[in-house]
Amino acid sequence: MPTTTVDGAKLSYGDEGKGPALVLLHAFPLSSRMWAPQVQALSDRYRVITPDTRGFGDSPPFGDRQEATMERLAADVVGLLDDLQLDQVVLGGLSMGGYIAMAVMALAPERVRALVLADTRCGPDGEEARHRRSAQQVQVAEEGAGSIAAGMVELLLGDTTRAHHADIVSSVTEEIASASAAGVIGALQAMKHRDDSTGLLGTLGQPTLVVVGEEDAISPLDEAETMVAILGEPTLATIPGAGHLSNLENPEAFNSALASFLSALEDD
Ligand code: MLT
Repeated sequence: MPTTTVDGAKLSYGDEGKGPALVLLHAFPLSSRMWAPQVQALSDRYRVITPDTRGFGDSPPFGDRQEATMERLAADVVGLLDDLQLDQVVLGGLSMGGYIAMAVMALAPERVRALVLADTRCGPDGEEARHRRSAQQVQVAEEGAGSIAAGMVELLLGDTTRAHHADIVSSVTEEIASASAAGVIGALQAMKHRDDSTGLLGTLGQPTLVVVGEEDAISPLDEAETMVAILGEPTLATIPGAGHLSNLENPEAFNSALASFLSALEDD
């Protein structure tokens, strides 16, 4: 995978296809590999760029967990766009990727032609979520990322996938188990202190697609509906038979919603 350097940090990213640029930011604690079904479906018409967030895939982690902020992760994305000389892109993020995408909207909204927010939420962590993340940081520091894999898979994947798609269950479990402890700890740090993006969403003028897996237990339908109400008139796509990782669990429905959104942008 190609790499760039942003503010002294190496960042790895996928870059496939030719056409209007689409940047897709992955969920926690996965990597750019989770976008394989979208790269495969869309790279004949779009340039699909899939960064590895710091600490995941081939991107090294923050040196110190205190440096790990959503703003820094957003600056990494903008730095990558600078390096690739892309003035404007369609920016999409799933879950943690959505948090980063919203932080990019706060930092450099002019770089975003349209936005895709999948299985994510605009509100910040509450006290309980922060405590849970702190406990996970301790667990991962002591026992490694593999120790949270089984519990996370239960939450990330919907009932349908867990009952009928053993291949997805095992590939997501392996992906989590192979994540670096420092990467996981840094991302938890950035997520637990992220800003509330509720006010920001109300100010955005870009066309937006909100996507949610019908069985998403982490960012359920009511979170998507909250974002829809704030955004005004976004497109909403609900993905049947999919949990939180809707792009992996039902790629056909996810790709079809994304492809129609992208082609409507071209007709503008
Ligand atoms: C993700 O999928 O990125 C995470 O579940 C997000 C979170 O823990 O808030």
